[in-house]
Amino acid sequence: MPLLSAHARHTVSFLLNGTSVQVETDTRLLVTDALRHSLGVTGTHVGCEHGVCGACTILIDGAPARACLTLAVQLEGHDVRTVEGLAPAPDRLNVLQEAFRRHHALQCGFCTAGILMSADAFLREQPNPSEGEIREVVGGHLCRCTGYTPIVAAIKEAASIMREMNEHV
Ligand code: FES
Ligand code: FES
Repeated sequence: MPLLSAHARHTVSFLLNGTSVQVETDTRLLVTDALRHSLGVTGTHVGCEHGVCGACTILIDGAPARACLTLAVQLEGHDVRTVEGLAPAPDRLNVLQEAFRRHHALQCGFCTAGILMSADAFLREQPNPSEGEIREVVGGHLCRCTGYTPIVAAIKEAASIMREMNEHV
């Protein structure tokens, strides 16, 4: 990307959960602020704001990214997914979300959007993960409430349900 003046204005166009959106931004606006304040899409949470807690994790072209470390101008032309894009319909949860609910894998829910996005990308790459691999993914996220065990169990169960569903397609 060429060097941009910090105060220059830009119009950034990208796909957000399958819909084309445009954001007017200066060069320094973070993706977290573009999503939450410019677009009103508030499912992506902001915790540490320096790449440690994982609360702000979104998918860019299918890969997990820390939205608090990404500039909105970097989204130009990309496919962005947030937690709002997981559920298949407004009144339905997806397999991973259902498993989180069954296993009580959230309490305050602050970490949940980020963990769901990392787990979503992970299970696409690794549909039959070991517990150790799941723990490694979850280890990239801070959760102060659950002790992680129900989160690991939920991801394990979601993986198994997804494998079964794929076998019957
Ligand atoms: S808010 Fe982005 S990693 Fe913590
Ligand atoms: S559920 Fe509260 S931080 Fe994870």
